[in-house]
Amino acid sequence: MTDTVLVIGACGQVGTELVENLQKIYGAAHVVASDIRQAEHPIFANGPFEILDVLDKVRIAEVFAKYKPTVVYHLAAMLSATAEAKPKLAWQLNMDGTFNIFDACLEYGVAKIFWPSSIAVFGPTTPRINTPQSTILEPNTVYGITKLAGERYCEYYNMRYGLDVRSIRYPGLIGWKSLPGGGTTDYAVDIFHQALKSQSYECFLGPNTSLPMMHMEDAVRATLEITDAPQDRIKLRSGYNISGVSFNPDELASEIRKHIPNFVVTYEPDSRQTIADSWPQSIDDSVARADWDWQEKYNIEKLVVNMLENVSATRTST
Ligand code: SER
Repeated sequence: MTDTVLVIGACGQVGTELVENLQKIYGAAHVVASDIRQAEHPIFANGPFEILDVLDKVRIAEVFAKYKPTVVYHLAAMLSATAEAKPKLAWQLNMDGTFNIFDACLEYGVAKIFWPSSIAVFGPTTPRINTPQSTILEPNTVYGITKLAGERYCEYYNMRYGLDVRSIRYPGLIGWKSLPGGGTTDYAVDIFHQALKSQSYECFLGPNTSLPMMHMEDAVRATLEITDAPQDRIKLRSGYNISGVSFNPDELASEIRKHIPNFVVTYEPDSRQTIADSWPQSIDDSVARADWDWQEKYNIEKLVVNMLENVSATRTST
C-alpha cells in the first residue's frame, strides 16, 4: 500500500521544496500539503491541500481522519527573529502545536513523523567550533528554548509511547525556490537576490559572523533520508547535528564577487546579531554520518554557483 504523506507548514521555506520532492516519490495524489495560509506556489495545485492551524485540535482531527496519513512532516513553527518579537505566541505555536500534532499521530496510528530541530538549541555557553552532538544546551532565544524542549519531547514520545520520531538540527537553509521568513540566517538567501538586482546588499549581521549553513537540496535530502532510514539506524530520537558548509557574510560576499565583481556589501547589524552570536560557527555531524550515512554535497563554491544561476533564471523568467 502506498503511504499517504501529510506535510504541515507546507508553504514555508522547507515545506515548499519538500512537497515538490515528495510528489515525485509518492505521486502527487498521496502527498497532502497543509498550512495556516492559502497556498500560492503552483506545486500545491498538483495534489490535495488543506488549510490547517496546528493550534486547532478539531481541524487537526478532521484532516487526520480524512487522509489517515502514514508519514507526517510537521514543519509549522515560528523562526528565531519573529519569535523574539512575539515570544508567547512562539511558545504556543512551537510547543502546543507540536503536542497537538504528536497526539494526533498517536491517535491516528501514524507510522513515522519528522520534526525539525535547529542549531538554535545551542546557546552562548556551547562550544562554538565543531559543536558536538551532545554538549551544553542553554539556548537564550525563545525559538531555541522551544526547539530544545521539542527535542526532549521527541525523545519522550518515542520512549514512552513508541512514536517513531525522527529529527535533525537544521542549520541556516539556502535555496532559490522559496524565501525564508523571520530567521537569523535569512541574509544568506537575500544576498543572492540583491546581488543580482542591484550589485549591493546591506547585511543585518556583521562581516565575521560565521554560522552553519546548508543548501536546500542537501537539507531536503537529509530530511527524506532520515525519515526513510530503517528504525534501527535511528539511535537518537532528539535532533541529529547535520553539517553542510560554514561561512560568514564576508566570505560569502567574496565568493559571490568571483561572479559579480562589482558586488558591494555594507554592514548594519541589528538585533539578529545577538541571536547569531549565541549560535555555533560550525557543527560536528559525525553521529549522523555514522548512524544513517549523512553526507552533504554542497560546498560554498558549488552553493554560490547554483544560487546565482537559479535566482538569475527565476528573475528573468518573471
Ligand atoms: N534558520 C533558522 C533561523 O534563523 C535557524 O533554525 O531562525
